[in-house]
Amino acid sequence: MLLSGRAHPDLGAAVAAELGVEPGRCILETFPDQELQVQILEAVEGRQVFILQPTAPPAAKHFFELMLMADACRRAGASRVIAVVPYLGYARQDRRAHSGEPVGARLMAELMEQRIDRLVTVDLHTPSIEGFFRIPVENLSAISLPAEAIRPELSPASVVVAPDLGAVKIARRYAELLDLPVAYVDKARLSGGEILAREVVGKVEARLPLLVDDMITTGGTMLSAMKALLDKGCLPRFAVAATHGLLVGNAVRELASFSLSSVVLSDSIAMPDFGALPVRVISLQKALAQAIQRLTTSIVQEKRR
Ligand code: R5P
Repeated sequence: MLLSGRAHPDLGAAVAAELGVEPGRCILETFPDQELQVQILEAVEGRQVFILQPTAPPAAKHFFELMLMADACRRAGASRVIAVVPYLGYARQDRRAHSGEPVGARLMAELMEQRIDRLVTVDLHTPSIEGFFRIPVENLSAISLPAEAIRPELSPASVVVAPDLGAVKIARRYAELLDLPVAYVDKARLSGGEILAREVVGKVEARLPLLVDDMITTGGTMLSAMKALLDKGCLPRFAVAATHGLLVGNAVRELASFSLSSVVLSDSIAMPDFGALPVRVISLQKALAQAIQRLTTSIVQEKRR
């Protein structure tokens, strides 16, 4: 049984179609006082239920809707509840940068464990977040999809650029797949939206940068990296690839102020309006359907043993 929350019903329908099933019926509403109301209309007793719900903005609402759906399935006797969360919000709160802060990612994990038996997600912000969960986590890598999509645009002058140190591993993975050199930008985040690029490491002069990251939120990281690369004499045309394209606030407008050949994103969250941005969306529907199929088979085999 595959159910979809309200965060990304289109992806839910696409994954269901890929699996050759109808998405399960449920009522999902928001009351006038903003409380969420969930009612599962399918008989889930004794069944494994997959709930597809990226915890995309507004993360708290989508997270809580997922938890209500999981609770409803449990109370109706589902044998297992598996959350399919292609984008896991709060994953960047994986440590306390300052005293007085929580560890949001760890809290999310602890809350999910109360109702969910297993998590399927895509390109976690940091793979070590998996260790926050005591339930099994399947962290799918989607990097090969945007990498293949961008390959035809590349030239011998291309260079893969990590816009911050956290993206260096991702950049190396792209570089291996595309057989390109790597450079990176040393960034400091001054606040949620204020970013300072301190240094560029690697050869970028007269080269065409392909900037890669796990996610683009405000676009601030990409913008400051592009400015720093231009200062270092790169060619003034950028390609950008990321798994999760949140593009909140002025991200679309500000990114579009640079000369971009393309921005490749997955559909891990429902896509916002891209305006003039040359976005290409790569769907995760096959990868998620395969993961669901694989888990269904392995769970059935476990039961038979
Ligand atoms: C940070 O560590 C992430 O990998 C991204 O670089 C960052 O979250 C992107 O956010 P923004 O687009 O707001 O700079």
